[in-house]
Amino acid sequence: MKDKCILDFGGVPTLHDSNAIAPEPLVQRHAQPGRSLLAVLHAIQDELGFVPPDTVAPLARAMNLSRAEVHGVLTYYHHFRTHPAAPVTVQLCRAEACRSMGTEALAQHIEARTGCRFDSAHQHQDAEGAAVGLESVYCLGQCALSPALTINGTLHAKVTPQKFDALLAAATKRVEETA
Ligand code: FES
Repeated sequence: MKDKCILDFGGVPTLHDSNAIAPEPLVQRHAQPGRSLLAVLHAIQDELGFVPPDTVAPLARAMNLSRAEVHGVLTYYHHFRTHPAAPVTVQLCRAEACRSMGTEALAQHIEARTGCRFDSAHQHQDAEGAAVGLESVYCLGQCALSPALTINGTLHAKVTPQKFDALLAAATKRVEETA
């Protein structure tokens, strides 16, 4: 298994790039009066794909909250990222209905196929060189069609190992074509 953290995949925001994001203007754009903290965090993630940790302090000031409150909300909800997603991001449902339909065996296949680990702090490269991130989620609303997963936000149901391999190859190709 490779252990190379992918921070420089062509054209995709990286952790290094995230350091260059100016948090104050970002917060000013989104922390409008009357907006809840959750709504602001969603708006920032919609714009950037993640919520930079540097926004916690300016968010707290702008919304008259403590930094601990903002940090607590940001880290409580799994939906929010504090770093850019991998160019190919797989979110696999590991809740009850999917578990009963073999999602854990599918998870093992996905890890073996990609050389990555679910919910790892680092992202890795697969054999073809595309960066892949594996994330566990808990119910995608497709319980009757489990096991379910998303790849880069697109939902797929009744996923078998063979179907996953085809989906991964297609997603990898799309990333390579746009890099
Ligand atoms: S339990 Fe997996 S989609 Fe609902």
